[in-house]
Order: sequence, then C-alpha cells, then structure tokens
Amino acid sequence: MKKVLIVAALLSSKKHKLVDLLSKRFEGKVEFSLESFENFALFIDKDGQLRGYFSGIDIRSFDFVYIRSKTGYSNLAKTVATSLESNKVPYADKALANASYIGNKLTSLARLALGEVPVSQSFFAYKLDNEFSLNLIDKLDLPLIIKDLRSQRMTGIFVVTNKKELFAFIKKNKRKSFIFQKFIDIQNEYRIFVIEGKAVSAHTKTKRDYSTGKLTYLNENEWHEFVDLKSLPKKLITEAEKAANELLLDIAGVDVCIDKSGKIFCLEVNRGPGIDYEDDKPEEIDALVKFFQQKTR
Ligand SMILES: Nc1ncnc2c1ncn2[C@@H]1O[C@H](COP(=O)(O)OP(=O)(O)O)[C@@H](O)[C@H]1O
Ligand SMILES: [Mg+2]
Repeated sequence: MKKVLIVAALLSSKKHKLVDLLSKRFEGKVEFSLESFENFALFIDKDGQLRGYFSGIDIRSFDFVYIRSKTGYSNLAKTVATSLESNKVPYADKALANASYIGNKLTSLARLALGEVPVSQSFFAYKLDNEFSLNLIDKLDLPLIIKDLRSQRMTGIFVVTNKKELFAFIKKNKRKSFIFQKFIDIQNEYRIFVIEGKAVSAHTKTKRDYSTGKLTYLNENEWHEFVDLKSLPKKLITEAEKAANELLLDIAGVDVCIDKSGKIFCLEVNRGPGIDYEDDKPEEIDALVKFFQQKTR
C-alpha cells in the first residue's frame, strides 16, 4: 500500500480531520499519516549520506510527504525538505528545499551534506528523550562535539568524552536543540574567505581547548595568521569554494580543517566572514575592495 505522510507544526484536530478525510476518500488504499516536526531526527553518516526519520520511521518508507504547515519550525521544515530531496522521496513544496540556503547551523549542515561537501558524522533530533534518539546517540563514536543551534563564535560548543558525560549533558539540556557531531582530531584549521565562488584569502584559526567540556581558545594571546593560498592543499581550497557555492553565498567565510590523518572537513560556513578590521594585514579588506571595485565599475 502507498504511504503518504503529512507533516505539520501542530497536530491540531483540523490536521487529524484532513488525514481522516483523505483516508476515507482513498478507501484505505492509500495510508495517510500525520507527524509533527518535533518528531523529526536527522543522521548524517560518515559518507555524508542524509537519513531522515519521523518518530523513528525512515522517511524513505513514504511515497510522498506533504509538509503542510511550518509556523515556528521554518528551519526544521527546510531541513526535512533537504533530507527528502537527498533521499529522492517526492514531497511538497519544493520551495522549502530551495529556501534552505539560509537558515541556521542545521539547514547549512544538511545542505552541505547534500552537496557532497565533506562534513563530520552528525545527529540531530528535536526531541532527545526517546528511545530512538538515545539509541542513535549511543552509537555515535566518542568524543562528541555538541553544537547549540544558536551558537556563534564558540558560545555554545561543547565536548563530551564518555557516555556518562554525554547522558548527563542530555539530561541537563532536554529543551534545547543541538547537533551531535563526531569529534575531528584537527591538525590545522583555516578560515577561507570566498568571494563569488573563488577563495581570495585564508588565515589560520587558533587552537581550541577541548579539556573543560565547553570549547574555549587554548591561548587567548595567540592570533590568527594570514597564509598564502598557494601554500594550502588544493583540495582544501576547492572544498571551501564548493561549500560557499552549495549555500549560494557570494561572500562567505568557510571554516575548513585537515585532521591528523589528512582528511579534509568543512566545519561551518559563515555568511558574515568575520573580518577583523583591527588587523594590520587586512587581506580580507583588500579582497572586498576588489569585489566592490568590480561592482561599481
Ligand atoms: N566536529 C568537530 N570536531 C572538532 N572540533 C570542532 C568540530 N566542530 C567544531 N569544532 C571546533 O569548534 C569551533 C567552533 O565550531 P563552529 O561549528 O564553527 O561553530 P561557531 O559558530 O561557534 O564558530 C570550530 O572552529 C572548531 O575549532
Ligand atoms: Mg565557526
């Protein structure tokens, strides 16, 4: 039997009525069901494959998904659409996946994975206090990086090294939204400034301190240094450019890193490239000046 899923922000009596009406019209030949965004979970495996679930049921088990309303869950709706797109499950409306270029850490991560930009294995669930979420989290390799969806400039990046810490963290933060991500043993991290699809400058990112549970800077007095783009591995540059392109950002600050085994990962793409105006080597400003020169010619 064909299966249709209707996703809504609120499971109101109206939505139930819609499902009932449709079921009746199809005389039980098509199965209609209803889910809320709050039951959504996303898993991105180590190969960048996106897996979406509602109440633990794989989205691939549906023949069609209709995202009915999204009030208050806009970024989740975009992420659901991106995961449907990735799994080739037909859905409505296409506008949602096409709106996923701008949103939050989760929409970006899903979009980057869809575009085959290398990201670390990740898990997100709106609700963590259920067997399905806890089971998946339990299977993730430790240590884990935990990112608050609203985090910026390391304000909400945490690290847990064992199961005890992990489940204590979940218990303490039940009502917040996090991305759980496999820890990357970073050798070098860079911020690549990408303008209109081309890397224009790069600087190192200072080393992080992972020892306290909440990420901080290892040495507050360490400063980033601009590096010659030519001195960086070509693949690092092309992945950064690919990441900015995938998010349709004309001006982007892409955080990329190489781990101890030489693997490249994209950590994050920032729409605000984080230009440091105080710096005495304003390579980023030079690049921006060039950009505006072209635009005003
Ligand atoms: N999976 C990871 N493994 C190891 N370190 C990470 C990982 N993800 C992020 N980090 C570190 O945390 C920093 C902040 O993470 P990021 O996702 O860029 O969030 P923010 O918005 O706070 O900058 C990164 O610059 C990187 O040094
Ligand atoms: Mg960052």
